[in-house]
Amino acid sequence: MSTQSKTTGKKVNKAWLHDHVNDPYVKQAQKDGYRARAAYKLKEIDEALGLIKPGQVVVDLGSTPGAWSQYVRRRLAPEGAAAGTLDGAIVSLDILPMEPIEGVTFLHGDFREAEVLVRLEAAVGGRPVDVVVSDMAPNLSGIGSSDAARISHLVELAVDFAVQHLHTEGALVAKVFHGAGYDELVRLFRANFRVVKPFKPKASRDRSSETFLVGIGLKAQVRA
Ligand SMILES: C[S@@+](CC[C@H](N)C(=O)[O-])C[C@H]1O[C@@H](n2cnc3c(N)ncnc32)[C@H](O)[C@@H]1O
Repeated sequence: MSTQSKTTGKKVNKAWLHDHVNDPYVKQAQKDGYRARAAYKLKEIDEALGLIKPGQVVVDLGSTPGAWSQYVRRRLAPEGAAAGTLDGAIVSLDILPMEPIEGVTFLHGDFREAEVLVRLEAAVGGRPVDVVVSDMAPNLSGIGSSDAARISHLVELAVDFAVQHLHTEGALVAKVFHGAGYDELVRLFRANFRVVKPFKPKASRDRSSETFLVGIGLKAQVRA
């Protein structure tokens, strides 16, 4: 690495650290017992659209460290408790390990692999899924075109899974990025869901091109 890029890297790290330490969502996450500030992104989407309710089956793709699963777990619990009775089921999956969350079934594996999909389907056990949430993001190489292709691939797989397993009134929330491939992903959502809403939660940093696509209700013809 050149001296210049080392310096730039340090500056970026310093800026990130400054933002992180002063970030109200980081402080709130510590207070609320969430493993990551990401919890508030899903919370905002859910509160705006009313997606997650007690009694549901929810699948969380790309779940580690577990803040979204923690949020869903609280939504499915009477009184929003972080432990104890759970009304519904949560199946979470990540390529990285995840610390256990009471009542959440965790599968460790790569969502792109057929064998992992088989394990996920077994854990869902043929129950219609009410909500699929995907915060999956690949490690980026910095090469725009191949990163865009990897991001799109994960979202396409999440859409496939949702189409095969969602209840007809169910919903998919998926992280996407503005830039190459975005319009095609919107078209893919529109082809499969009756209602499609792009959503940029306040908790998602302004300078991040990250946004979320929400698809609600499967179109009649999409299920084989
Ligand atoms: C932004 S993090 C998710 C944060 C999580 N929603 C939370 O609230 O704690 C993205 C996750 O996607 C996972 N991921 C990326 N590619 C994956 C793949 N092919 N299969 C499964 N998980 C993947 C990463 O390991 C990472 O943990």
